[in-house]
Amino acid sequence: LFAGQSEFVKGVVAMSGLPPADRIEVCFAGRSNVGKSSLINALTGTKGLARASNTPGRTQEINYFTQGPELYLVDLPGYGYANAPLPVVEKWQRLLKQYLSGRQTLRRAFVLIDSRHGIKKVDDEIMTRLDSSAVTFQCVMTKADKVKDKDRAAVMEQVRSALSKHPAAYPEIVLTSSEKGDGIATLRSIIAGLE
Ligand code: GTP
Ligand code: MG
Repeated sequence: LFAGQSEFVKGVVAMSGLPPADRIEVCFAGRSNVGKSSLINALTGTKGLARASNTPGRTQEINYFTQGPELYLVDLPGYGYANAPLPVVEKWQRLLKQYLSGRQTLRRAFVLIDSRHGIKKVDDEIMTRLDSSAVTFQCVMTKADKVKDKDRAAVMEQVRSALSKHPAAYPEIVLTSSEKGDGIATLRSIIAGLE
């Protein structure tokens, strides 16, 4: 699945704007700044495909990217952005709910968790939403290059324990660094194994 090229398809703000469900897709969810766009760039090997920035909340739309002829990679808007006005948050929650329950071709959600911070309340809320929508999700730890090995164990344990409370959680956690490339091949093969 990762043999072909990647291209930006479109940014979607409503269900009516979704591209045709003519291939399988996986989506990437996570708090603002967790590294969703950077991970998509790393997976596709295409620098600057998904915008990566230091300004949290920059990706406000559901962004669709193709990966070869058979797969969409879907970059969901970052959540937990402290300064977002309530109507924006509510609109996003509505769209997320519709997307997660209504997209037949969605095979898995990857919930990105910062290796330094672990799971926060907003992450847990998204996981509950994924449980309700019966979308299997898998945790991807990001920015592994920013934590020392000895600090990692405690965060991983917190994540593992949180996952045990979510029926839709897939137990294997993937540790990644988009910066250094760690875990990227593993994640590609996990995605390639979905159908
Ligand atoms: P929003 O679109 O705002 O929700 O953010 P995002 O989740 O797409 O995060 P993005 O990929 O834009 O990354 C946020 C910041 O973290 C950028 O400055 C990235 O360069 C940095 N970053 C992302 N991944 C890594 C990583 O693996 N290691 C390090 N050191 N920095 C990273
Ligand atoms: Mg982004």
